[in-house]
Amino acid sequence: MEQLEGWKRTHTCGELSSQDAERTVTLMGWVHRRRDHGGLIFIDLRDRYGLTQVVFDPNLLVEGFPKSKGLRGEFVIAIRGQVRKRPDGMVNPNLQTGEIEVAAVDLKILNPAKTPPFEIDENIDVSEETRLKYRYIDLRNSSMKKNLLLRHNCYQLVRSYFNDNRFVEVETPILMRSTPEGARDYLVPSRINKGQFYALPQSPQTYKQILMVAGMDRYYQIVRCFRDEDLRADRQPEFTQIDVEMSFVERDDVLQLVEELMVRIFREILGVKIETPIQRLTYEQALNQYGSDKPDLRYGLELVNISRMVGSCDFKVFSQCVKDGGTVCGLRVEGGSSYSRKQVDDLTAEMKVEGAQGLVAIKVGEQGWDSPLSKFFSEDEIAGITRAFGASAGDLLLIVADRAQEALELAGSLRQKIAKRENLIPEGVYKLAWVVDFPLLEFDDQEQRYVARHHPFTCPMDEDLQFMDERPGDVRAKAYDLVLNGYEIAGGSIRIHSRALQDHMFRLLGISEQEARDKFGFLLDAFEYGAPPHGGIAFGFDRMVMILAGETSLRNVIAFPKTNSAMSLMDGAPSTVSARQLKELGLRVV
Ligand code: AMO
Repeated sequence: MEQLEGWKRTHTCGELSSQDAERTVTLMGWVHRRRDHGGLIFIDLRDRYGLTQVVFDPNLLVEGFPKSKGLRGEFVIAIRGQVRKRPDGMVNPNLQTGEIEVAAVDLKILNPAKTPPFEIDENIDVSEETRLKYRYIDLRNSSMKKNLLLRHNCYQLVRSYFNDNRFVEVETPILMRSTPEGARDYLVPSRINKGQFYALPQSPQTYKQILMVAGMDRYYQIVRCFRDEDLRADRQPEFTQIDVEMSFVERDDVLQLVEELMVRIFREILGVKIETPIQRLTYEQALNQYGSDKPDLRYGLELVNISRMVGSCDFKVFSQCVKDGGTVCGLRVEGGSSYSRKQVDDLTAEMKVEGAQGLVAIKVGEQGWDSPLSKFFSEDEIAGITRAFGASAGDLLLIVADRAQEALELAGSLRQKIAKRENLIPEGVYKLAWVVDFPLLEFDDQEQRYVARHHPFTCPMDEDLQFMDERPGDVRAKAYDLVLNGYEIAGGSIRIHSRALQDHMFRLLGISEQEARDKFGFLLDAFEYGAPPHGGIAFGFDRMVMILAGETSLRNVIAFPKTNSAMSLMDGAPSTVSARQLKELGLRVV
């Protein structure tokens, strides 16, 4: 291992071209590939910026040549040499530096390396576990590097956008009071105040509202949030939000601000033009048409609700469902009558895993339905249902029957499965939509009470205030989500700024005055000292970057992510701690 001893890097491995021919340069980086050829040694030297071919010629590198023979993959080296144009026919048009090579006259081995557990080549198959354990090697891959750079560019765009719009970046605490609403908190024990705990923020929601009371007017923060919830490809226990709050605004002001940000990000990052205003769907429309509050609008396949047509048919599965207040709905698979029995059975099994009681599949023939179920329906019913689906001979109808919301959601998940199976999802297409007019509350069957759908500070729609007590389930909220290609990438709302309305909301949620004081007393107090009307939004930054990068897992856009079991395989977190640490904290593990 050698020291730099005054050697200075003159160029990166991604910038030399034929214009630099004859220049003497110093490059530093990692040995990417090595080839021995006719007495010469060729090395692709790699750094963050690219690859440069370096040639070790025994005639040029008289003393150092034996040393170059010892080079192995991932050794860290410095070379001094002369840039020369590659001979005709040897130019590599796929490489930024493919016109040149560097003939080494001096070599320093700065650090040897063990043979890595996998090659730095994104085309080879390596288990994700191994990639995460050796993340520092995985991050050397150009695809991971590209994703992190894209992420970096997004941070800069976001900051410059909000700065241009006179927002102030404020950091809020990571150690905060636990406010058990929403997901589960990550807790941190206090050593000084034994038996007491901080919580890591699920979001800086209360702080940003208090910043509005403080008169900051426009706040943003790129902020880490923590939620101890079940994990999936699009959920991490710690993730990043672009958190935003504004005073003296209504819903459309927030939406407009976000639309311009989206225009800028898509233009700068992907060169894609986003048309504004971005399409808006009400929650009800989204659910009825697509069976989801985050519909993927890159394809059609809209749901068809046939409840009204089957209420008195002889097929009890449908008619009884409708009589019990349920919904019968489904979709048409164009040309789907070619599905085999097994394909339909597999699909049914998949739907059962999602909670469906079954899946009705009807093949449409030239004359009516090619289905044993046709005996339960009159000719008129068959014709009417076929027409409702817009179906013709050769199509397949897939139908579910369940409780109203469940049926739509099941059909929505069926819609996604069919879109994948039938290759209906176009590549390189970005469909943004706002989902608005969410219900304010939802009934929690387990707790037997209403809970806030978004959070308890979300303002009800003015026109629904009148029936808040009589029909709380029908009250809509001034809440909005931004949806991109089937992912919820942002969500926010106009907040309640009146103390009386906030108290009313707590009553609806079954939160007693004492409980409200215990949990949110500081916020309620603040609201009594001049809270301006305000509202905001938070982006799931990782999700947005994931889609922009064309990835389907958040883990590919986070430098050091956690697994689905919330572990960091590289550093082995979480881990046990010493008895002494526990004692200091006044804790015992049971
Ligand atoms: P919400 O809970 O909807 O709103 O979160 C905002 C956005 O954060 C992203 N997100 C996640 N991303 C990765 N992993 C997770 N576990 C995860 N959970 C959420 C989603 C989501 O749209 N304080 C409010 C915002 C507001 O009202 O201003 C909030 O946090 O993309």
